[in-house]
This record gives sequence, C-alpha cells and structure tokens, in this order.
Amino acid sequence: MPQEPLAANKISFLGSGRIARALIQGLLKTESVAPHEIFVTSHSGVSAKHLAEELGVTAAMSNNEAIEAASMIILCTKPAQALATITTSQKSLANKLLLSMAAGIRSEDLFQAAGGKARIMRAMPNTSVRVGKGTIVLAPHPSTTPEDLLLVKKVFSACAALEEISEEKMDAVTALSGSGPAFALLFLEGLVEAGLQTGLDPKIARSLAAHTLEGAAALILQTEQSPQELRAEITSPNGTTAAGLRVLEEAGFKKIIEQAVKAARLRAQELAVTK
Ligand SMILES: NC(=O)c1ccc[n+]([C@@H]2O[C@H](COP(=O)([O-])OP(=O)(O)OC[C@H]3O[C@@H](n4cnc5c(N)ncnc54)[C@H](OP(=O)(O)O)[C@@H]3O)[C@@H](O)[C@H]2O)c1
Repeated sequence: MPQEPLAANKISFLGSGRIARALIQGLLKTESVAPHEIFVTSHSGVSAKHLAEELGVTAAMSNNEAIEAASMIILCTKPAQALATITTSQKSLANKLLLSMAAGIRSEDLFQAAGGKARIMRAMPNTSVRVGKGTIVLAPHPSTTPEDLLLVKKVFSACAALEEISEEKMDAVTALSGSGPAFALLFLEGLVEAGLQTGLDPKIARSLAAHTLEGAAALILQTEQSPQELRAEITSPNGTTAAGLRVLEEAGFKKIIEQAVKAARLRAQELAVTK
C-alpha cells in the first residue's frame, strides 16, 4: 500500500469538540506542530470555526478537503458518529493514516468503513494532553506500518506519556486513563470542599489539593516504590493520616473506584456494540 512520507506532518481533525481542542492545544504548546499545519472540521462547521479562531488553525470547508490536505487524519467525533463520518469520505481516505480517538469503536470496523484502503490506528487520549501531561494509548490495526507508529509517537510524545497496547485492552484503557481525569478531579473536588469545611480559604484549598495530587503522582513516577509502600511511609500508627485512611477504608474507597472503572469499561463495550 503506498504511504505518505514520514516527515509529512500536516494533521486534520475530523471533529472540533473537547478532545480535538485538548489535543491541538497540547501540540501547539509543545510546538511539535505549527498552527498552519492543522486543519479542523465539524458537523455544522460552527465548532470548527470557533476552534480555528481560538487556536489559529484552519477550518476546512469539508471533511474531504481536510483529509486531502493532510497525511495524518485524527477522528474526534463522538463514537456514534465515527463510522458514518468516515464512510462518506472513503475515497479521500485511501492511503491516509487515520488515528481514531473514538471510544469503543473497533479498528476493523473503522478499516471497513474507510473502504479498506486507509491505515488505521486506535488511540485513547485524555484531556490532560492540553497541558502536556496527558496519556495516549495506541493500538495499531494490521493496516498500519512501523513508520506510522513512529510518526504518531514523534508527534505526540511532547504532550503525552505514550503506551502501546493490544486492541482488546482498549476498553479498560478508556475506563482508566480516558475517563480517569474526571475520577481524579472528583477526588480533588472533595479535597477542596473538605478544605473549605475545615476552615481553609478557597485559593489555598485548591492549590494544596492540586499540588498534593501532583506530588503523590510524581512519587509513583519518579521512584520504584509501590503506592502501598509510599503510603506506609507517611502513615504513623495512630497518627492523623491513619485516622483519615481508616474512614476511607471503612467506606470501601478502593472498591468504589474499581466499580467506577468497571462501569466505564462496560460503557465503552456497549458503545462498540451499539455503533
Ligand atoms: N472528551 C474526552 O475527555 C475524551 C477522552 C478520550 C476520548 N474521547 C473520544 O473523543 C471523541 C470526541 O469526544 P468529545 O468529547 O471531543 O466530543 P464533542 O465535544 O461532542 O465533539 C464532537 C465533534 O464532532 C463533530 N462532528 C460530528 N459529526 C461530524 C462529522 N460528520 N464530520 C466532522 N465532525 C463531526 C461535532 O461537530 P458539531 O459541533 O457541529 O456537532 C463536534 O465538533 C469521542 O469519540 C470520545 O470517545 C474523548
């Protein structure tokens, strides 16, 4: 199958919603791609126009125009719109690399919908890409090449921690890191509100909660220690941390998180079935 050269870095986003905005903000912030190298589209054209005005990228007149202008096409529609969107652009998609962000939509279904001539890779990002702290998990379909994988990694490595995984695990990834920022933000919101209840002012409570979570994550990323070991280090018997942890444990905190992740995974599986 003929391929675009590795250096070609014009990128088109089909869909101009929340995740497209986060990905483009991340790319522009890290300067891995320039605004004039990015094209966007949307169903009505309105969200694409707004995004173009906001970020200095180009709103294309149609999906076909955007696809023809770029070598990497990033599908950022809702899952329910994904297959219909690419089915109507089969001709333009021939020999292009299509990176799909759509939760639950299988790469073989995307390959067929694109007419069997595009190179397909599934990806699961999260919104933290917009500040250069995201995760993007890649699952290449057999139609892709090692060069495609290299190109995608090169483009996104500056704004996300990249992982590669087999596609059957993508629904678990969607649940953990795709939806995960919202779970972490709920915890953060709880810390802030608890700070207010215990007498802190809003600015300090917000800053302390955010830096506390960032610092805890950095301990995991920058040491070889497990969460349990790190937790034990800061939990003296009968101390303040132990008192708080006891409340969380008695309420089944970890079990609740497990149920939330499983519910999100189930929803990703349902989206694939009801595509
Ligand atoms: N949001 C997240 O945190 C997140 C995280 C990981 C993965 N994802 C995945 O990313 C995808 C997009 O999610 P989102 O939250 O960004 O959705 P969203 O905010 O609702 O945006 C969807 C975009 O798709 C456009 N669209 C619909 N049909 C189209 C078509 N035929 N051609 C071109 N554009 C079309 C919409 O245009 P209009 O505005 O005109 O309707 C809108 O700009 C989903 O598949 C989701 O699973 C999202």
